[in-house]
Amino acid sequence: MLGDLPDGSGRTALEPSLVQRRRIARDDPRDELAVIPERSPAETNLARHDALALDQPRGQRAYLLLKLPPNDTVLRLGGGIKGEQMSKSADLKARKAAAVPAGVGSRGVYVARAENAELWDVDGRRYVDFAAGIAVLNTGHRHPRVMEAVAQQALAFTHTCFHVVPYESYVRLAERLNALAPGDFAKKTLFLSSGAEAVENAIKIARYCTKRSAVIAFSGGFHGRTLMTLALTGKVMPYKRGFGPFPAEVYHAEFPQPYRDITTEQALADLERLFHGDVDPKSVAAIIIEPVQGEGGFNVAPFDFLRALRRLCDEHGIVMIADEVQGGMARTGKMFSIEHSGVVPDLMTLAKGLGGGFPLSAVTGRATIMDAAHAGGLGGTYGGNPISIAAAHAVLDVIESEGLCHRAATVGDKMRSRLQALAKEFPCIGDVRGLGAMVAFELVKDPKTKEPDAELTAAVLTHAEQRGLILLSCGTAANVVRLLAPLTIPDAVLSEGLDLLAAALRGAYGSETKRAVA
Ligand SMILES: Cc1ncc(COP(=O)(O)O)c(C=O)c1O
Repeated sequence: MLGDLPDGSGRTALEPSLVQRRRIARDDPRDELAVIPERSPAETNLARHDALALDQPRGQRAYLLLKLPPNDTVLRLGGGIKGEQMSKSADLKARKAAAVPAGVGSRGVYVARAENAELWDVDGRRYVDFAAGIAVLNTGHRHPRVMEAVAQQALAFTHTCFHVVPYESYVRLAERLNALAPGDFAKKTLFLSSGAEAVENAIKIARYCTKRSAVIAFSGGFHGRTLMTLALTGKVMPYKRGFGPFPAEVYHAEFPQPYRDITTEQALADLERLFHGDVDPKSVAAIIIEPVQGEGGFNVAPFDFLRALRRLCDEHGIVMIADEVQGGMARTGKMFSIEHSGVVPDLMTLAKGLGGGFPLSAVTGRATIMDAAHAGGLGGTYGGNPISIAAAHAVLDVIESEGLCHRAATVGDKMRSRLQALAKEFPCIGDVRGLGAMVAFELVKDPKTKEPDAELTAAVLTHAEQRGLILLSCGTAANVVRLLAPLTIPDAVLSEGLDLLAAALRGAYGSETKRAVA
């Protein structure tokens, strides 16, 4: 019944039926294994997979290796020792692998509850949250004012579809965003549900208004996972590979990156090259840019570059769109990240932090452009859902009453100074950058060659998770660690998170160095 796996590893092959029995008969009773909890749905699914193996050096932790169709991805589960039950997290990981498509990536912490900048997983472990649901929870998990607003709204009505039966809170939130957005001209706002949808609509509006089709985006930019937003995105893996063809008439220009020696002048020359060689500027409807690139690696667009873009847009009648989905809503120390440069875009896309954890996005901008499309051309069933709108009103109140723009600057300064100190200790930290509390550091194999170190980056995330810190990576070469703590994070929790980060770096860098030496 038990035999060696054909891979020569000395691991033991195991029939699924044995796993279902939860006990493996071996000479030594200490080798008994019961890593699958009773009546676990995973248990039923496990039996369906064709290859299971037990990786269990005697007397050590035991793992189940599960080979999943269709790619034969091998999943390592458990880590239980004799008779120990599989953790709830590991069980959920197995159920996820069996029930959710492989394309939906996720890390290993399954949350049970969360509060401000902390969360607890299903096994009761506590984590400091430096991801904030990817910059969504600028106001923290479950801010009391957001919760109260949502509860009150739920008592009144939860959905009517704004196109069918409209409501005042939608109009009032549009008024508030119109007043907050930069520019001393009339503005209008449209609500949607996701960041990608906001970007899609900003492009639709720009095309309709200019009667032009081409759109220019930037290398390393990220604008979403729908087909048009993927066309705009300048990062192939994991976003674009295999999902084309994408909509036509999208062009990419170089995003300036001082750390990689791409200057404003070079980036502008690249745009000129595009205008001469690929696309007539008079057929360009929009230029879309993240003032601080999110997924692309927290690259801050130099302000002189943003100003030059504004001039080019004015010269050629192009709509300038600032994608503020990640950098907006006080994250960078101003309500919108483009405000640091003094540049006024024609349109802005907002999402993430706007809804404080409830799905809401917006396009805000020049009324003359926003009004171009015919009635019925914009919108959607859930756009501006009343619950999300109520949450967004509370988010704006909290940003104002708790001074979160100022707080973002303080949190960011603290992060940056700690990272700069760590950079002296760790030569693998090639660059520390960002704006306000949108802070990141880039990991390289050698500070001179700046060769990206994606393996070390992944190891830092894993070490952080093991120590109780949730982190995210980014960057076109997956070698940037980004810090996106809630802006409401208490000082003590922020310090704790930074200590955990330092420990994770030490752990990961140490093991990487050992590996390199070995
Ligand atoms: C700058 C930017 N634009 C658009 C999006 C897409 O937003 P969503 O994932 O809500 O569709 C993201 C998401 O990370 C983003 O960072």
